[in-house]
Amino acid sequence: EREARVIFQPMNRVLTVPGGTLLLDAMRTAGLAIESVCGGKGTCRKCRVILTRGKCKVDARIGGKRLTAAEEAKGYYMACQVRVVEDCEFTIPVESRIDSPQILLSATVKIDRVNPAVVRYPVETMPSIGPLPGMQSIRLTGYTGARPHVPDTVYQQLRAPDEPMLATLSLARIPPEITGVEAARGAGPLYGVAVDLGTTTVVGCLVDLQSGQIVGTGSALNRQITYGEELMTRIGYASTPAGLEEIRKAAVESVDQVINSLAEAAGIRKTDIVDMCLAGNTVMHHLFLGMAPRYLELANADVSRVPVVKKAASLGLSLRDGATVFCLPGVSRFVGGDAIGDVLASNMYCSDEISLVVDLGTNGEIILGNKDWMVSVSCASGPAFEGAGATYGVRAMKGAIDHVSLDPATSDVSFTTIGGVPPRGICGSGIIDAVAAMVTTGALDFAGKLNSGHSRVRPGEEGLEYVLVPAGRSAIGRDIVITQQDIDYLMDTKAAVCGAIGVLLNKCKLKVTDVRQVYLAGAFGAYTNLASATKLGIIPEFPRAEVHPIGNGSLSGAYATLVSRSQRVVAEEIARKIAYVDLMVDSEFFEEYLAALYIPGKRELFPVSYG
Ligand code: FES
Repeated sequence: EREARVIFQPMNRVLTVPGGTLLLDAMRTAGLAIESVCGGKGTCRKCRVILTRGKCKVDARIGGKRLTAAEEAKGYYMACQVRVVEDCEFTIPVESRIDSPQILLSATVKIDRVNPAVVRYPVETMPSIGPLPGMQSIRLTGYTGARPHVPDTVYQQLRAPDEPMLATLSLARIPPEITGVEAARGAGPLYGVAVDLGTTTVVGCLVDLQSGQIVGTGSALNRQITYGEELMTRIGYASTPAGLEEIRKAAVESVDQVINSLAEAAGIRKTDIVDMCLAGNTVMHHLFLGMAPRYLELANADVSRVPVVKKAASLGLSLRDGATVFCLPGVSRFVGGDAIGDVLASNMYCSDEISLVVDLGTNGEIILGNKDWMVSVSCASGPAFEGAGATYGVRAMKGAIDHVSLDPATSDVSFTTIGGVPPRGICGSGIIDAVAAMVTTGALDFAGKLNSGHSRVRPGEEGLEYVLVPAGRSAIGRDIVITQQDIDYLMDTKAAVCGAIGVLLNKCKLKVTDVRQVYLAGAFGAYTNLASATKLGIIPEFPRAEVHPIGNGSLSGAYATLVSRSQRVVAEEIARKIAYVDLMVDSEFFEEYLAALYIPGKRELFPVSYG
């Protein structure tokens, strides 16, 4: 097929692609980030682009939903449904773009003592270089542990040792390994990176390993995002060896991008980085390591609880020779290393008090317990709490409505946006606030259905909708509405979360009043108005508990294990200790879920609201 030039505006990017290429594939290859929640199945309609010049061809075989007649008349197409046939130009509208999202960098974990897995020791005695250098050992001043492995390359570096030398010793694996030697004079700091490999975003921090100080933080979008928003979609993509390799590379490249930006900002070379720790959910963990994730679709899939430690080079990351990557272990198919990070960050594993950790990201993880026992569940929270699942939902980025409030006197609804600019959509915290306000003003009933008699509710193309922002005040030239479908989706998700917590409490024979500490992880914990979340019944009321946002638990876990070898042992112990209840095959869950389909939910979980 003949090649065609495709221009993308407003970024003015030009791509040359073979005729017949699917537009979304072309954009993926070029790293042009576009919303594609369903991963190209044609069902989310988020990948809209506007054809401004030339022609393209809708591929009728692909199937999926259609755009409205009005949108088609304006030149809108779905990038996953059209093929390039000739030179053409597209505009990516503001609602389809993925701009740098607001991210949560806080790593809250407290470390008593810095004892990293990579340390330096002065070289005490040089081996005499003989014909079999690998048979000899290098003695290190002050080191008393197991005899380290010394690669031949290190012996080469020692051939002219006429001045004091330092050896870099990695204790990340057994046996320990001397990964390099260098002159003591002028030796710079040893750096490590802690990485949270999120489904949407990759966040990293650069750490001075000797002091434990964070010297820089950075982030990038997970390039896997164009392979679908949901974990299941990505598992599907990775079901062939080629797909798995493609999506693995996308993760590694995203991590590498973060490391590059961290190194650049700190003015160091990547080869100054000697160690790395990474946490992510079980699917991210599998995809990053190139492990086939298909079995994770099965209920009660048996997931290894042992941490994986690999050479960075074997994963495609070019750090210092011999640098390793420690991946936090998981518990089950959907309670991964990120949840272990939450537990580390909360310190619940050291406390007598009953604590609850709630981490609601793309997937929800909930852990109940104390220092003696812990039980976990996971539930689908999908993108509902991150905004991406709603018709006008956007990520938490500039122009997203992040809070909605109600004037108690007039019942007037007002809102704020990130960056204070006119709104382009509504993000997770905004939707939760807005729907809570709809309940208070009577626009929504207790079963989660819109009230057609309310002044802001009107019939829309797909049923009733609530007008939050009229077109004149929005940045997209259209009304920003919340549809009944959006609310149904939110209700479904909230019932899954609340029902999951209900099941956990029942299994442990505990009541909401027994819980003394509640730790809310991630963006949900940091940005969501807790009053709105309990009003809707996303999480139960815990009248005797203190509530703490714990920031990015996954990053905290990676940081903790980077600066402390003992925390690696603790992480493994926690992973082994946590029991897991698979709700997909739990008979109680359905009952709890049904009871939670009302606002706020069942009486036992909301003792304050019911009085
Ligand atoms: Fe195109 Fe979802 S409709 S990616």
